[in-house]
Amino acid sequence: MSLTQQISLPNGVKYEQPLGLFINGEFVKGVEGKTFEVHNPSDEKVICSVHEATEKDVDIAVKAARAAFTGGEWPKLKPSQRGQLLCKLADLFEENVTKLSSVESLDNGKALALSRTDVTMAAGCLRYYGGWADKIHGKVVDTQPGTFNYTKHEPIGVCGQIIPWNFPLLMWAWKIGPAIATGNVVVLKTAEQTPLSALVAAELINEAGFPPGVINIISGIGRVAGAALSNHMDVDKIAFTGSTLVGRTILRAAADSNLKKVTLELGGKSPNIVFADADIEKAIEWANIGIFFNHGQCCCAGSRIYVQESIYDTFVEKFKERIRKNVVGDPFHGDTFQGPQVSKLQFDRIMGYIEHGKEEGAVVEIGGKRFGDVGYFIEPTIFSNVTPDMKIMNEEIFGPVASIAKFKDIDEIVEVGNATNYGLAAAVHTKDLNTAIEVTNRLKAGTCWVNCYNMLNTALPFGGFKESGVGRELGKAALANYTQVKTVQINLGGLG
Ligand code: NAI
Ligand code: MG
Repeated sequence: MSLTQQISLPNGVKYEQPLGLFINGEFVKGVEGKTFEVHNPSDEKVICSVHEATEKDVDIAVKAARAAFTGGEWPKLKPSQRGQLLCKLADLFEENVTKLSSVESLDNGKALALSRTDVTMAAGCLRYYGGWADKIHGKVVDTQPGTFNYTKHEPIGVCGQIIPWNFPLLMWAWKIGPAIATGNVVVLKTAEQTPLSALVAAELINEAGFPPGVINIISGIGRVAGAALSNHMDVDKIAFTGSTLVGRTILRAAADSNLKKVTLELGGKSPNIVFADADIEKAIEWANIGIFFNHGQCCCAGSRIYVQESIYDTFVEKFKERIRKNVVGDPFHGDTFQGPQVSKLQFDRIMGYIEHGKEEGAVVEIGGKRFGDVGYFIEPTIFSNVTPDMKIMNEEIFGPVASIAKFKDIDEIVEVGNATNYGLAAAVHTKDLNTAIEVTNRLKAGTCWVNCYNMLNTALPFGGFKESGVGRELGKAALANYTQVKTVQINLGGLG
């Protein structure tokens, strides 16, 4: 199989799709000659095949990264030059926004407008971390006369990064930005459902002028290439976004290999809480964004909606009316809000949860069925009268399915909101500042929104309490996960 393929997109964009593994600044075939198919979730057809990394290719990529970290140009660059490279990459993302976002919509199925936002946010993230590159400082610490002590924040080294399929390009940028700003090198494995946009972005790495081997991008299967990366003895850190199940596997792999540093950004079952005094129209808009944005395929999705009892019936009626207006369909159509789920497997998982909800006695207010008969489309679905014991109230569905229940007062909702092993996000809708502050203080979640939902910003840390993760991404907080502190203690005679 060749290393590129001409692809024509539904919006008329024609481009040359790279298919190889991007290792040491070049697109190459895997040494074992394996490939895997990439599907379009809108029509279930094969778009193309890409070269697959196996354990041997992971090893080659890690060696290339190690060589770039220890020799060559990279360690000699000034921090500000690393920053300039990231800013250049950000510019190239923006220049190529139409191509990148179209490829994303083709492969992932997300509405084109959402893909454009992802590309713009990815560019913003790369530029933000470009700005940090020359602001990574240690401290001078005075302990006693006749000594001089300081700390340095050094790069960790070869970073393995494993990303999911729900925001392929955005996760690419969230991972690469802080790693590169702090002087690390990267081997990034994309999700097998969505390898295409990352390979187009890999071309931009060369165009930006990064030395070969600093950023390597490989397509591969989780239990093969992902496992090889997390078990590798010469990978110093692994950063993962995906399911809690695989997160545990990665932590175990680190423990059983070289105790590489691990950061995990995992699942959630986040409560979205609407108090009776909230602006109900606005709360409904945010509840829609909270659960139906990106087809419900968000780790921080507001999948448990709790409404205070005095407005519960009104809320459910108005919410239904609003959700009926969400346009489901072709991601390349201008009005589309919700495209297909990413894969047959995810489609089946979600439909399984919907059937379970029905069997357990929750009320289907709207939706509950497949949409159309081609592609992995699911009707936006609202379940009401969902009780705490039901599966749909406890497990991450990762699809366009909202579960609604009512609550009485602050004490009750704090207890119910926290009754989960997850702790990624939560939201409160109220006009009362005291309620907002009290409830957000008492909720165990890494991000708490007040009168909004799903508002992520590159400058604000993101990550999970409890089983939703380890470490933080974004903001200054992410830099700590890509550096290690070295203490230097100099005896100027004070220590004898
Ligand atoms: P997954 O956790 O299997 O996949 C995420 C990434 O991990 C992919 O790159 C995959 O290749 C890799 N991976 C899989 N097995 C691995 C292993 N043994 N070692 C190393 N890497 C491995 O998630 P999947 O199956 O795609 O989705 C299942 C569920 O996970 C979803 O329904 C959702 O609940 C959750 N999920 C959460 C995401 C988030 O943003 N936190 C993103 C994607 C999925
Ligand atoms: Mg696909």
